[in-house]
Amino acid sequence: MSPEIFHSPVMLPETVSVLNPSPGKIIIDGTVGEGGHAVSLAGKVKPGGILIGIDRDAENLKIAENRLKKAGAAFKLFNGTYSDMEGFLQEEGHKEADGVLLDLGFSMRQIKKAARGFSFSENLPLDMRYDPSKGQSAESWLRQADVSEIKDVLKKYGQEEESPRVARCLKKLAETDKKITASKAAEAIASAKRKKKKRINPATKTFQAIRIYINSELEELKKGLIAAASCIKTGGRLAVLTYHSLEDKIVKDFLYRFSGKCECPPGMPVCGCGALSRRPFLKIIPESGSVPSEKEKSENPASRSARMRAAEVVLK
Ligand SMILES: C[S@@+](CC[C@H](N)C(=O)[O-])C[C@H]1O[C@@H](n2cnc3c(N)ncnc32)[C@H](O)[C@@H]1O
Repeated sequence: MSPEIFHSPVMLPETVSVLNPSPGKIIIDGTVGEGGHAVSLAGKVKPGGILIGIDRDAENLKIAENRLKKAGAAFKLFNGTYSDMEGFLQEEGHKEADGVLLDLGFSMRQIKKAARGFSFSENLPLDMRYDPSKGQSAESWLRQADVSEIKDVLKKYGQEEESPRVARCLKKLAETDKKITASKAAEAIASAKRKKKKRINPATKTFQAIRIYINSELEELKKGLIAAASCIKTGGRLAVLTYHSLEDKIVKDFLYRFSGKCECPPGMPVCGCGALSRRPFLKIIPESGSVPSEKEKSENPASRSARMRAAEVVLK
């Protein structure tokens, strides 16, 4: 039997080094996925510590559970969203954590095996939910939304330059086809687009936009950062791996605002970004903003767009 291939954890040594897990510590992996980061983190908090893993995707959680069990780690997994991490931590009888990791986006299994329409070539319904038991699928949204709403989503969450043309063709597909599969949607998008880049699938930005919208990813991220900052103890750390500019900007702005780094344009008479109007409780650490090594990028192309942002809680 060939060995099972899992999602390759991105910037693994860097995230482990930033979160600095050691015996007795409590680490929350808010996007435990297939357990790649979690197995390393959990192994280092033994004895006495615990890894609390959260994921919206119950199938990924099963994989993480098996891997964590094999590693003999102390762990507790929750099927839910990381913005609810404070509740999960309390359920385990803890008020504060030593570290929180958020590795945003989706895992390899979700693209290759989950059959939820994340992949351009899938001949299965365009679902795109991390948790298919909740909310609305992408297919059902495309049927119910009007062209202008679709266009706004593609522009806002995908920065799709040809959003009006793409939105019209997706709406037409929804009106004429009984089953919108990922492959049909990707073909329709490709035929609608005038400008195509050589090595990037023409549906990339649209698929990203629909996925972000369907899973409320950016709203989740904003709430999750607040939840993480309020449950990390003084001296504890937050590490976030982002994969596109929209999520990276949210994380960067959050860290800057609460670490007292004013981002107002030079010459502003008073600070308007809010950074100087409150006591800073975060300290951005030097590794923040780093990207994967060239070696990692060539070995794992999925890591190419990653960026790690990280901070320490210095005041509570
Ligand atoms: C990049 S993968 C994590 C991979 C993991 N670090 C590993 O090494 O195996 C991101 C995971 O986050 C999950 N996810 C996305 N949004 C979430 C949310 N708001 N709350 C919890 N999990 C979420 C996805 O289902 C996916 O499993």
